Amino acid sequence: MNILKSRCKIRKFSFLIQTRNLALKRFPNYSILTDKDYRKNRCLDDVNSLDSYNEDWLKSCKGNSKLVLLPKTTLELSEILKYCYAKNLAICPQGGNTGLVGGSVPVFDEIIISTRLMNQIIKLDEESSILSCQSGCILQNLDDYVSQRSLIMPLDLGAKGSCHIGGNVSTNAGGLRLLRYGSLKGNVLGLEVVLSNGEILNSMNVPLRKDNTGFDTKQIFIGSEGQLGFISGVSILCPPRPRAANLILVACNGKSFQNVIQIFKTAKLELNEILSAFEFMDRESMRAVKENSNLENPFSIEVSEKCDFYCLVETHSSDEESALRKIENFYSKLSEKDLGLDCIVAENKTQFSYIWSLRERIAESLTKDGHNYKYDISLPLNKMYDLVIDIRKRFSENDAKNYFRRCIGYGHLGDSNLHLNVTSEKYDEKIFKLLEPFLYEWTMKNNGSISAEHGLGLKKKNYIYYSKTKENVEYMRKLKKLFDPKLLLNPYKTLPDF
Ligand code: FAD
Ligand code: MLT
Ligand code: ZN
Repeated sequence: MNILKSRCKIRKFSFLIQTRNLALKRFPNYSILTDKDYRKNRCLDDVNSLDSYNEDWLKSCKGNSKLVLLPKTTLELSEILKYCYAKNLAICPQGGNTGLVGGSVPVFDEIIISTRLMNQIIKLDEESSILSCQSGCILQNLDDYVSQRSLIMPLDLGAKGSCHIGGNVSTNAGGLRLLRYGSLKGNVLGLEVVLSNGEILNSMNVPLRKDNTGFDTKQIFIGSEGQLGFISGVSILCPPRPRAANLILVACNGKSFQNVIQIFKTAKLELNEILSAFEFMDRESMRAVKENSNLENPFSIEVSEKCDFYCLVETHSSDEESALRKIENFYSKLSEKDLGLDCIVAENKTQFSYIWSLRERIAESLTKDGHNYKYDISLPLNKMYDLVIDIRKRFSENDAKNYFRRCIGYGHLGDSNLHLNVTSEKYDEKIFKLLEPFLYEWTMKNNGSISAEHGLGLKKKNYIYYSKTKENVEYMRKLKKLFDPKLLLNPYKTLPDF
């Protein structure tokens, strides 16, 4: 009996709340999976196991896939893709499923191909510090591995315990260390990619720091969100692990965000080459981690009552003594300019991770409010927080105060990347309509980008024109057709509808 055939036709959008207005239709040219299409070998097809693969981390998108495949090798992956190509079966590549824009879960019945079992380290070349591994390695595991060789992964993010390096590359993830170590576009030195027809494109065999022979084809896959190919292997440059890492939490003085910018400028001057991260969070973000994750504000009540913004400043260096000298200079400059209310310097590992958790766990804390409208915007520094202020103003002018729980701002200030987040108990159309497209228009007017690091996925694909010209999108479409002529890879996402 084939129960799949009848049920796959049903359009299931029960959880697709924020994207209801997309009115998507399943592409009729895709075949419907039958149980003749697969053997029960490293695959999941029972309802209970499928659930966590079908639903995204934010629990805002839910697909209806009937099959998860778990290849272990590139050749197996290539065989699967060849088969799907021949049979016109659409697929959804999935890594750790921590993506925040609905890109990692199917929309209808696409087959999920997970990299969970492609988790082998291939090689660490100790002379060049280049790590080569399969795409399903968990970021935290890779960092633990390279740390034993006194190296560090060039990226770090709150989802490091679950996200896969292939997912990181596919989203061109930014994260907490980009300020110091640069983006994946610079650090990824080779990729192995399986194309939609099963062909394998390899630039991983001889990963080199410099190679100017023709076009750098791997770049096109970095940040391509599973649209152009399936990443099966990654070679990445790992910097030396710093001998000394320090962390300072600054309670900023004054109500103006301009003071936060001044603190950043001071950090750049005084900490200079050892500055490894500069993050900020507002008063409401600090309140969210306290109320929802029980993380206490480490400052006195007196300070926290006055404080509107907090900055997390991290340094990585090879010499503890000179780092501490620089930190002291930084501190004196803040006092001189009256920029800080108070400062805490982490004194041990426990304090270090506690302070980081205040920032890293904001995303998790917000999910406990109910529904999360999540935005990830690039803006010129001096405009960055104005968006939060304007959204709050818009809510109060439209009598929406009772509809939402929080409207907060935090993010990677060192990279001009604001995370604006609004929460409400349940999805609310009124809130959604006050936010979109207003904030995208606002971002365009202020010369920003509607996605700094999370990508477009399903939720933001139709807003691409706020950040890219028509001509650019046209060339993206041409590339899509070149690499994936049957449009089988991660359909309905990233590019506006064909
Ligand atoms: P998934 O979520 O599984 O997939 C993401 C996208 O990539 C999907 O479109 C998927 O189809 C595609 N994909 C996955 N694997 C492959 C592959 N092998 N080949 C081709 N396509 C593939 N992001 C940031 O940039 N910076 C942050 O600081 C940050 N912090 C986060 C903190 C938390 C708590 C959470 C939950 C998320 C955070 N994210 C952040 C978002 C997310 O973690 C990143 O986008 C991450 O890179 C996704 O990796 P993943 O393995 O979970 O990919
Ligand atoms: C972060 O920086 O914490 C992540 O990008 C997740 C988020 O935006 O909440
Ligand atoms: Zn982020």
